[in-house]
Amino acid sequence: MTVHFIGAGPGAPDLLTLRGRDLIAQCPVCLYAGSLVPKEILAHCPEDARIVNTAPLDLDEIVAEISVAHAQGQDVARLHSGDLSVWSAMGEQLRRLDALGIPYTVTPGVPAFAAAAATLGAELTLPGVAQSVILTRTPGRASSMPEGETLANFAATGATLAIHLSIQNITSVVEALTPHYGADCPVAVVYRATWPDEQVIHARLNTVEAALPEGITRTALILVGHAIGATDFAQSRLYAPDYDRRYRPQSADSPWIDWIDDNA
Ligand SMILES: C[S@@+](CC[C@H](N)C(=O)[O-])C[C@H]1O[C@@H](n2cnc3c(N)ncnc32)[C@H](O)[C@@H]1O
Repeated sequence: MTVHFIGAGPGAPDLLTLRGRDLIAQCPVCLYAGSLVPKEILAHCPEDARIVNTAPLDLDEIVAEISVAHAQGQDVARLHSGDLSVWSAMGEQLRRLDALGIPYTVTPGVPAFAAAAATLGAELTLPGVAQSVILTRTPGRASSMPEGETLANFAATGATLAIHLSIQNITSVVEALTPHYGADCPVAVVYRATWPDEQVIHARLNTVEAALPEGITRTALILVGHAIGATDFAQSRLYAPDYDRRYRPQSADSPWIDWIDDNA
């Protein structure tokens, strides 16, 4: 018996990996994390599967569901939204499964920040503008932030910020970032990326609060940085016509000629 943790993606049901889909189809038990996992994904479960929404359960109750399946030798598909590596609460479940000796696997999913960037048609790392993306959040009711992980500290890097779980804190986000990025720094808010009711708000730090439509109080990503919507950036060397590289040696003297010969 194995518990398969599966990233269910950002919302659109076809943004699920083939591996994730096949595992769901094999498991007689499916535990899924509430409203952010699209119901269409549950259609991959076997017809007679036990399907449990874990949104109203606490950790002990979730582990109890898994333990019952374990005792019955039934594999479990455990679905969380997006990818499992960020804000999935997978870590605390794995710790309990380790203590109980229950085996598990982890299958990645499409994270919300990548889905939001795709909706914008944006590369978040543009040459000479930003070469790092910081995935972060602001403190919430259930989670404080470790000392040092402040928006001001991250903003001092000038990187592109993908701020999760924070649309309700937009006022303090703007206050913290404006001194570093400037009031006219581009901001994109993507609400429910890839869901049918997706919305995109393009603004600047000094206009984003006023630009937010009413009702956008959760499930939104705030992307901030000068890479958002930029067109005036350097071309990467990778595709420059004169760039000597492994797959495109520029002369018979290129050090990459031998590599091509060895790997042809
Ligand atoms: C609990 S976290 C889950 C993150 C998820 N594990 C991931 O890989 O993206 C929920 C937050 O992720 C962001 N989020 C999740 N799905 C989203 C979507 N479809 N569109 C925009 N933001 C989303 C929002 O900031 C939301 O408050």
